[in-house]
Amino acid sequence: MEVRTRLSVTVVVMCVCCLQGLFGQFAVQPLRKALLENYDKRLRPVRDQATTVRLDFDVALRQVVGLEELDQIFTTLLWLRLYWTDELLQWNASQYDGITTATFHSTEVWTPDLFLINNIGGGSGDLSRVTDVTVTSEGRVAWRQPGLFSSACEVDVSGFPYDKQTCKLEFSSWLYGGAQMDLFNMSTSMDMTAFTPNDQFEVAGSEVWKKETYYSCCPDDPWPSIELHVHLTRRRLFYIINMVVPCLDLLVLNLAAFYIPPDSGERLGFTITVLLSLVVFQQLLTTQLPATSTSTPMLGKFFTATIVLVTISLLITILVLRLSHPSHPSRPLPRWIRLLLLHYMASFFCMSNIAKERPSSGTPRDGRGTHLLHDNGDTEMKDIGRDTLQEIALTDAANRSLLHRISSKVENISAHLQRMVDDEEEESEWKMAALVVDRAAMWATAVASIVISLVFLL
Ligand SMILES: *[C@@H]1O[C@H](CO)[C@@H](O)[C@H](O)[C@H]1NC(C)=O
Repeated sequence: MEVRTRLSVTVVVMCVCCLQGLFGQFAVQPLRKALLENYDKRLRPVRDQATTVRLDFDVALRQVVGLEELDQIFTTLLWLRLYWTDELLQWNASQYDGITTATFHSTEVWTPDLFLINNIGGGSGDLSRVTDVTVTSEGRVAWRQPGLFSSACEVDVSGFPYDKQTCKLEFSSWLYGGAQMDLFNMSTSMDMTAFTPNDQFEVAGSEVWKKETYYSCCPDDPWPSIELHVHLTRRRLFYIINMVVPCLDLLVLNLAAFYIPPDSGERLGFTITVLLSLVVFQQLLTTQLPATSTSTPMLGKFFTATIVLVTISLLITILVLRLSHPSHPSRPLPRWIRLLLLHYMASFFCMSNIAKERPSSGTPRDGRGTHLLHDNGDTEMKDIGRDTLQEIALTDAANRSLLHRISSKVENISAHLQRMVDDEEEESEWKMAALVVDRAAMWATAVASIVISLVFLL
């Protein structure tokens, strides 16, 4: 018995619900019919044609899809919220069961012809009408619509990878001037509540403002538009890890090359390898950036400076190699070079062994084996030869010519030895000069490397 009562109560409740829904439907249908019967969605929704339609514009930034530096295309997913009053979609709520809001599809009623006018994507920058609009009995229409927009963005890569970009999106009507439809921004920045972060760029901020342009066609009619500015900061970790750190590595390696003795042929090959690696890195970099000559990216400048530095190191290595192997017969080191390199620069770079042994007077340094034929030793030998000759001349005239020949031979040998020693000495002087040049180049390279790195990193 109880079960049956409960069942009948349920049936009654269900019927009431159904009827209510049916009556609701019955109320909405005449409302829709009444409103849309003589409605022309191509006409501005005003009773008096002199009235300006006020369009309130609000926008939420959903996602920064990408910024293509090569094509200068900025793609974003936006949620647009547009509000206006449609004087032809007003009704008396008490005449329609108290219904205060109704929904229509955006293709059924008048919607503003709003376009992204700096559009660069495939379409024409229009809003595809996919969502419904809600209308209140006062005729206030709210249209919320998502859209993927591609706008032309002037990309300035001069600071890359420390660059900041500002991309603009400009929405305006192609059809209505300011007198027919006026645009107003509801807030000064974009709503970021539903924002999804981008991997490449960080959104540093956004601005929304109204702009009025006077085009040459219609100088009396201001053409209103809404401009959105999105400020982007590049996430630079990727470039620092993949580009900057290897380049710094190569700078350090280039410096380390000076530690290899210049005589061993290894150094030339080593520096050339460093140079080649840098060129490869630069090639990788240039494929990622716009081929513009108006502004060079900072990373590109850094690479170019590094390549120039490594090239100079290479040239210096060649010079040092040439100095350490002077051509024969060698010429003595010019006096000013000797003074500059072996005295001032040697003491400046703390090469005390060279600076001490090479006083500014420029007297020849004792080379290996020089002690055999030292200046004093040489005269001594010549003296001995002469004395012996005189003694022998007095005692034994027969051997005189023989001894004379021996003496001249000894003198020849002595002179030859002296020449060899002089050559060796000159050669060692050139080698020392090469060492000083090498050391100076090492310090200069170290300073240049640090300056280049600091200028780039700061
Ligand atoms: C709305 O309709 C009711 C009932 O027909 C009427 O009394 C009222 O005056 C109307 N209101 C307006 C603003 O027309």
